[in-house]
Amino acid sequence: MSVKTTTPGPAAVYGKHPETLVRQEEPFNAGPPPHRLLSGDLTSNDLFFVRNHGAVPQIDTESYRLTVEGMVKKPFRISLEELRRLPRVTVAATLQCAGNRRSEMMAVREIPNELPWGSEAISTAEWAGVPLREVLTATEPEAGARHVALTGLDETERHGHLFNFGGSIPLDKALQPEVLLAYEMNGRPLPPVHGAPLRLVVPGYIGARSVKWLSRLTVQEEPSENYFQAKAYRLFPSNVDSGNVAWDDGLMLGSFNVNSLICAPVGEETLAAGPVTIRGWAFAGERDVARVDVSVDGGRTWAVADLAPARSRWSWRLWQASVELGPGRHEIVCRAWDTAAQTQPESPAHVWNFKGYMNNAWHRVHVTCA
Ligand code: MTE
Repeated sequence: MSVKTTTPGPAAVYGKHPETLVRQEEPFNAGPPPHRLLSGDLTSNDLFFVRNHGAVPQIDTESYRLTVEGMVKKPFRISLEELRRLPRVTVAATLQCAGNRRSEMMAVREIPNELPWGSEAISTAEWAGVPLREVLTATEPEAGARHVALTGLDETERHGHLFNFGGSIPLDKALQPEVLLAYEMNGRPLPPVHGAPLRLVVPGYIGARSVKWLSRLTVQEEPSENYFQAKAYRLFPSNVDSGNVAWDDGLMLGSFNVNSLICAPVGEETLAAGPVTIRGWAFAGERDVARVDVSVDGGRTWAVADLAPARSRWSWRLWQASVELGPGRHEIVCRAWDTAAQTQPESPAHVWNFKGYMNNAWHRVHVTCA
């Protein structure tokens, strides 16, 4: 008699939900189907999206040390045990990848060599750890220090070079109370795929700055020279591509723009004609979401959605609106506004860029009513 064994897929290996949409197996890149995000204002660890540029590193927590160095009077190395003795805070924060909703930009014009994320590269968790500023102030940064470079323990390869993932954030942001050296996620130890034993969480900023498997903080005058700060995660006009790019001209991405999404109904659903409830999320990075509008006539008229309270000023707001749909095919559209009265562009064509970042165009879903 032969016994059949099945090898668990990568989603199961990393403790992810069976419905997880896997964009890439190695490195592992995946996220929840967007309607799954509506089950609460926090995303459970098994549904939380994953963005990796290299393999998940194996880290020995006993010998692990975080190094803090650079333009500081008192550089030091600190163990996990010592970090856990420092003040512990929790912050509910949404993480979103700058490449979220890239596939809608790809439909405008091709974007080679980038992951075709749908809208699943966003999630919200309650993170616990030590405010980064506790550690930074202890090092006494020198006058002239402006940035904190961040280095992870995972390795990635670009253009024939092997290097550690990294980036930087301005020192002013690093000293804000919401920026955490996190060792817990939703009340559980930080899972390996999300950066255990220690990651940075930079609320309001693109996900790339929330460096996982954090090993080194370097206080310095200039932003990091790491590929993922100096080249990737920059924004260019639509006429620029990999053939004519001058990397230094790109806008280095940090704080997020305003964005919103329809999570239910899902695209191409068939519904009963009559009143239909539309539900989704809205997020405005370092600003607050002020309003969400829904249109079923291509943006001629808008219904104002009901916004659920935000769990914290760093987390998205779920919303819902009721619209009346007659028999036939419909396009449902949403857009959000932030507290600076900024809103979303009508089409991804207006914000297309060759790396496919920061797509915050009106979100459109098509349904048929019977
Ligand atoms: N940190 C390291 N060390 N390596 C990475 O590949 N990816 C970044 C960031 N931190 C990354 C990293 C990107 S682009 C994003 S969007 C977030 O991690 C995703 O965090 P998550 O996988 O916990 O959702």
